[in-house]
Amino acid sequence: MASVTIDHVWKYYGKTEAVKDLNLKCADGEFLSVLGPSGCGKSSTLRMLAGLEHISAGDIRFGERRINDLPPKDRDIAMVFENYALYPHKTVRENIANSLMLRGASRATIEQKVKKATELLQIGHLLQRKPQELSGGQKQRVAIGRAIVREPQLFLFDEPIAHLDAKLRAHMRGELKIMQRELGTTMIYVTHDQLEALSMADRIAVMHEGVLQQFGTPQEIYDHPVNEWVAGFVGEPPMNFVDCLIEDRGGVLHAVHPSFAVPVTGSQEAILRDSAHRAEVRMGIRPDQIGIVTGDGGDAVAAQILLTEPLGGDMLVDAAVGQEKFLVKTKPDFQGRRGDACRLAFDTGRWHLFDRDTGLAYF
Ligand SMILES: Nc1ncnc2c1ncn2[C@@H]1O[C@H](COP(=O)(O)OP(=O)(O)OP(=O)(O)O)[C@@H](O)[C@H]1O
Ligand SMILES: [Mg+2]
Repeated sequence: MASVTIDHVWKYYGKTEAVKDLNLKCADGEFLSVLGPSGCGKSSTLRMLAGLEHISAGDIRFGERRINDLPPKDRDIAMVFENYALYPHKTVRENIANSLMLRGASRATIEQKVKKATELLQIGHLLQRKPQELSGGQKQRVAIGRAIVREPQLFLFDEPIAHLDAKLRAHMRGELKIMQRELGTTMIYVTHDQLEALSMADRIAVMHEGVLQQFGTPQEIYDHPVNEWVAGFVGEPPMNFVDCLIEDRGGVLHAVHPSFAVPVTGSQEAILRDSAHRAEVRMGIRPDQIGIVTGDGGDAVAAQILLTEPLGGDMLVDAAVGQEKFLVKTKPDFQGRRGDACRLAFDTGRWHLFDRDTGLAYF
């Protein structure tokens, strides 16, 4: 096992800067997820770790060892991609055992390792089948089995379950997490699916346009996004954003919008007071951080219901506040209907204000 250090790493393809000055440290045994939208540089990062892509600048180290110039076969890694590339004419057993056979492992060793991996992945009953006789999820487990038997010091997974159906993906998320914890092997797992990253990873590195935006635990990233981009990317349904002005009203700072004014208190106010450049902000609040009740009056923000979407366990409500629209997540027994007046209460313990120019979070 080993830690992985990515030290001021850049990747250029001609003039394209795919990865820009990336710094990350993945601890020994950690499950690290690299999360970001298409084209943000996830696969480029993984391929540099694997040795499949030249590192344009910077260093990568496994433990203390700099591996920039080490050929892939000497890096002691196992990769799993979205397209598994199983050998079509070989059985599941032969696919999984292939790397061990190439290494000249004994029959007994091969038998024992294949057994252990296939038990873990619950594919012991499929050993004699060929890939075309398997479902997508089964093929994917065979590809992972092939990676496991190599007992590498590092797993590199690139969107391995991206094209499975939603139910199977949810199932595989759990299985992969258990597998990684049981084996204790360091894992770097690339995905564009925030739910995968949030549910599986010890820490998440969020990337956007080749730049690392934030590196932290799933809870840190969800509760304290460093900027508006991360706040909008992580969380489903996404955070609501509304432009506000910060005004001092009778000695208390308020986030003021044409349709409402919300006092900013306590430590949040102290942060704003410390900033000279704070007049124009963007407020961010998640759909489940807004309370909604039907009817007029009271202190809460006056709104009108545009749409209700029952989702079984939850209800999503689109509510108009002046020209703005807020998405609210509430209980399924909410009684409001399209066109009804309602009131919104923002949970200001958990909301966010961002600098409108830089996008950086005040809190
Ligand atoms: N071989 C290449 N030659 C030129 N440009 C490339 C090459 N590979 C990737 N790129 C560019 O580098 C950027 C990052 O690509 P990369 O494959 O790392 O993204 P990604 O985050 O894995 O995206 P996706 O989620 O779509 O797989 C993109 O702008 C892409 O077009
Ligand atoms: Mg990719």
